[in-house]
Amino acid sequence: MKKQLDIVLGLQWGDEGKGKIVDSLAGRYPAVARFQGGPNAGHSLQFNGNNFVAKSLPSGIFRDGCVNVIGNGVVLDPQAFMKECKEAAKLGVDARERVLISRKTSLILPTHRHLDAAYESAAGKGKIGSTLRGIGPTYTDKAARVGLRVGDIMEPDFEEKWNKLKNRHLDIFKQLGYEYSPQADDAAYREAVDYLRTFRLINSEYFVNNWLDEKPMLAEGAQGTLLDVDHGSYPFVTSSNTTAGGACTGLGVAPGRVNRVYGIFKAYCTRVGSGPFPTELFDETGEKIRRTGHEFGAVTGRPRRTGWLDLVALKYAVIINGVTDLVMMKADCLDDFETIKVCTAYKVGGEITKEMPSETDAAIEPVYTEFKGWNTDLCGVTDESVLPKPFMDYVAFLEGELGVPIRMISLGPDRETIIER
Ligand code: IMP
Repeated sequence: MKKQLDIVLGLQWGDEGKGKIVDSLAGRYPAVARFQGGPNAGHSLQFNGNNFVAKSLPSGIFRDGCVNVIGNGVVLDPQAFMKECKEAAKLGVDARERVLISRKTSLILPTHRHLDAAYESAAGKGKIGSTLRGIGPTYTDKAARVGLRVGDIMEPDFEEKWNKLKNRHLDIFKQLGYEYSPQADDAAYREAVDYLRTFRLINSEYFVNNWLDEKPMLAEGAQGTLLDVDHGSYPFVTSSNTTAGGACTGLGVAPGRVNRVYGIFKAYCTRVGSGPFPTELFDETGEKIRRTGHEFGAVTGRPRRTGWLDLVALKYAVIINGVTDLVMMKADCLDDFETIKVCTAYKVGGEITKEMPSETDAAIEPVYTEFKGWNTDLCGVTDESVLPKPFMDYVAFLEGELGVPIRMISLGPDRETIIER
């Protein structure tokens, strides 16, 4: 069995800048696969001077000759997918020639999107801050064994199955007092399902494993480790396994097939939506990080919460994913700080710990190590030898704490601005 599956994923709460790295790595692989999540993701790709935000399309979509797989672990919204494919078509790419979809991929229905909205408005203070793309309700139906899958759209009784599930959802709307009228949604959904029928559907486990016998593949994670439904800050998480194990279940690949795991992190932290964030900053420093890092959501446009780098959380993410190569993003956004802080431990109930507490409501006080800022404009630097000593000391400190080499450092938004070490 050849170890030819490499995985790239986020180590924090998403938005680590995966798009840029996946975009650059994708060019080195003849195939790229999405294994979880859905149109809640937003990976910014640059293509012939255009910027394209890939939501459900794998990031190899603009690479000639690259095969793009949507795996069984993904939740696919035919309407959002058709819209995205039409955008790609404007850039000269017919997604139908480049994308293969697992018959087992879960289908997001219009009522799933509305369930997200209905649950969030009923949740009051307990809101998750969902992207409202129907992700949670679709995974709920998958686990409840009542969901629909892409393969179902080819069956003659698809409308019947759809109606059955829709009726379950209509009952929930009634219970929640949520107003919903399906008419408008249904026509648009039917059109999008017709479009989806024109794609090549595959028995993805066979396809992927046969491929890996011959050639490498890159598995592309969405969201981030701390949003994993099992290992994240539950219940403030997404509903899939965003971690390396999710690549195995979301593609039907054995763990022994996995070669490298690229873990991407930002030199600070951000989070959108609700939930614990131990190093969050509510002051001018947090505002400055948001401004400098342009920390506003790619899918929702929401301002992101910002804070210092959290090594307790990052170490946890490295362990869970078995990261072999770290990729550090956006350290240039810290160019203009006198002091840079890194959280190296938590104080919980008066005790110092280096472990993430499993209770979401634990009162955590971050313990910081301070670094002198490098106060040098690093944006656009691609030559490691010109990096200032305080910056390299900072990098060496992180590597020592995390026990994994930082193989790539990205200092600036341009695709070419990557230092490979
Ligand atoms: P959902 O996945 O849309 O249900 O959202 C659940 C939580 O995950 C919310 O806090 C979202 O803001 C967060 N989330 C979902 N997708 C992303 C992403 O791609 N980047 C960052 N956060 C995300």
